[in-house]
Amino acid sequence: MSQVSLRPRTTAILATSLDGKLARSDAAGKRIASHYDFQHLEQQVAQVDAVLFGATTLRWGGTAMRLQSPHLIAERERQGRSPQPLQIVCSASGNLDPALPFFRQPIRRVLLTTEKGASHWQGSAAFDECWRAGEEAIDWPKAFANMQGAGVQTLAVLGGGQLLASLLQIAAIDELWLTLCPLLLGSAAPSLYPDGVEFSGMLTLLNVLPVGNEVYLHYRLTYA
Ligand SMILES: NC(=O)c1ccc[n+]([C@@H]2O[C@H](COP(=O)([O-])OP(=O)(O)OC[C@H]3O[C@@H](n4cnc5c(N)ncnc54)[C@H](OP(=O)(O)O)[C@@H]3O)[C@@H](O)[C@H]2O)c1
Repeated sequence: MSQVSLRPRTTAILATSLDGKLARSDAAGKRIASHYDFQHLEQQVAQVDAVLFGATTLRWGGTAMRLQSPHLIAERERQGRSPQPLQIVCSASGNLDPALPFFRQPIRRVLLTTEKGASHWQGSAAFDECWRAGEEAIDWPKAFANMQGAGVQTLAVLGGGQLLASLLQIAAIDELWLTLCPLLLGSAAPSLYPDGVEFSGMLTLLNVLPVGNEVYLHYRLTYA
């Protein structure tokens, strides 16, 4: 496993069913967790410089997770930070629909893509920045160098499973917040841990909080 040293402090925040699924197979863009989980997610997002999510998550959900609570936005401004974290979508293909509501949200948008993916957006102002990291696959050290250049020292990874797996594979997740939701969603549902990606890690439990029928787990990761 390769470790990338020059990268932001990275926390993954996801909600999973008890059988390790991220969404219902028939409602793949809908959240499976409670309103409390939304508030928890917003709290985490409020603390970081940037948010990173996969293209499929955006295709299904249509929007980025932006801060909505006035007190969280005001607190960032009080700290001299931007009101919203930078929103980075990872797409090797660059194949995203410019009609998605994401492109009308009042946020700064970055496309993390390849040379090939960037060619779709040549001359477009839909993204504030387009980071070309790799020819056909994402070159993570280059992606992290782009993040450093943009002043991103803290990063929240919001899924989905494919993106999380590729970052676990390069030992690039430092902490994990996992909400266990009281659901079983079956094999057709999108998975937290997709097949075919090898990774390993050890986790130290930092906190556990039951809320209603959900359990909030906070872990630190270490890699061999
Ligand atoms: N419960 C939760 O907390 C939660 C959170 C997030 C998402 N979700 C759900 O999870 C599902 C989506 O998850 P998913 O695992 O199918 O997809 P995903 O990780 O959101 O997106 C996969 C896509 O992102 C791009 N991508 C990801 N990693 C990449 C890498 N290392 N290099 C290059 N491109 C990369 C590729 O885009 P291109 O194909 O464009 O190249 C890839 O096809 C949706 O149903 C969503 O609603 C749930």
